[in-house]
Amino acid sequence: MEPPLDAQLDRARDLLAAARRVLVLTGAGISAESGVPTFRGVQGLWKEYRPEELATPGAFRRDPRLVWEWYAWRRDLVLRCKPNAGHRALARWLRARKAFAALATQNVDGLHTRAAAEDMGSQASLGSSAAPYPLLELHGSLFTVRCTECGREEPHTAPVDATSLETLPRCGACTALLRPGVVWFGEPLPETALSEAFRWAGEAEVALVVGTSALVHPAASLPGMTLRRGGSVVEVNPEASPLTPLAAVSLRGPAGILLAKVLGTGEPTRV
Ligand code: OAD
Repeated sequence: MEPPLDAQLDRARDLLAAARRVLVLTGAGISAESGVPTFRGVQGLWKEYRPEELATPGAFRRDPRLVWEWYAWRRDLVLRCKPNAGHRALARWLRARKAFAALATQNVDGLHTRAAAEDMGSQASLGSSAAPYPLLELHGSLFTVRCTECGREEPHTAPVDATSLETLPRCGACTALLRPGVVWFGEPLPETALSEAFRWAGEAEVALVVGTSALVHPAASLPGMTLRRGGSVVEVNPEASPLTPLAAVSLRGPAGILLAKVLGTGEPTRV
C-alpha cells in the first residue's frame, strides 16, 4: 500500500530542502493544465498525427508546407495558453534557489520562459530566455527558426503563413527556407543544453521529474544519472512511468496542484 499523500509531500519537501543541487526535468504533462496537448495518452498529439509524417527531417524535405502548417497551428495554440500554477510554482522556487537548481525541459512551448518572465515582472521574450537559472530547452523551441542552408538560428514569433511554399518564412541572410527550431526524430539534441543537463543530473542530490512519460531518450536518461551518483528522484505525474519504481517519492496527481504543495505557490505575495 502506498503511504498517504501528506506523508509523501513531507518526504518530497524534506529531500528538496536537504539537497544542495536540484535538477528539475519536465515534460508535456506540466503544460497539460494550460491546455497544451501531451504527446501520448488518450488525447495525445501522436494519436492524431504520425510522428514520421510531421516531426522528421525527411517529412520536412518531402512536404515543408505541411510540416510548417502543423507547427504554425501548435504555435497559435500555445500562444493562446498561459503558464499554469505548476509553471509558476517552479519559476518562483527556482529563482529562490539561486545558483543551486536548473530546469531542463523537453517542452518546446515556451511556457517555462513565460513563467520565468512573469515571475520577474518582465515581458517574456520567446525564443530566448532571461530566466535567473539555467533553463535548458532540450528539444528546442517553437519560437526559434533555423536556416536549412546556412544554419543561422534566431528567435521567430511572427505568424507563419503556411498556405503555400512561397509564403513560408525564409532566411534574412541567404533566402533559403527556414525550419522550426525544434528537435525532430533522428536528430541530435542541442549540444550545450544537453551537456549542461547531464552535468546537472550527475551533480544533483535530487532530480524532480514532472509530467513526462520518461520514454524518450536521451532526456529520459537524466534521472538515472542522478540515481547513479547516489541521489534521489521525486516524480510528479498522475500516472505511473518507467521511473516510478526507482523514485524515492512518487506524487500521483496533476502538477499544478502538487508542485504548489511541495514548492509553495508561484503567486505574487500581497502586502
Ligand atoms: P508524453 O506525452 O509522452 O507524456 C506526458 C506525461 O505527462 C504522461 O506521463 C502523463 O501521465 C503526464 N501528465 C498528464 N497530465 C499531467 C498533469 N496535469 N500533471 C503532470 N503530469 C501529467 O510527453 P513527454 O514525456 O514530454 O519529443 O514526451 C517526450 C517527448 O516525446 C516530447 O518532447 C516529444 C515527444 O515525441 C519530440 O518531439 C522530439
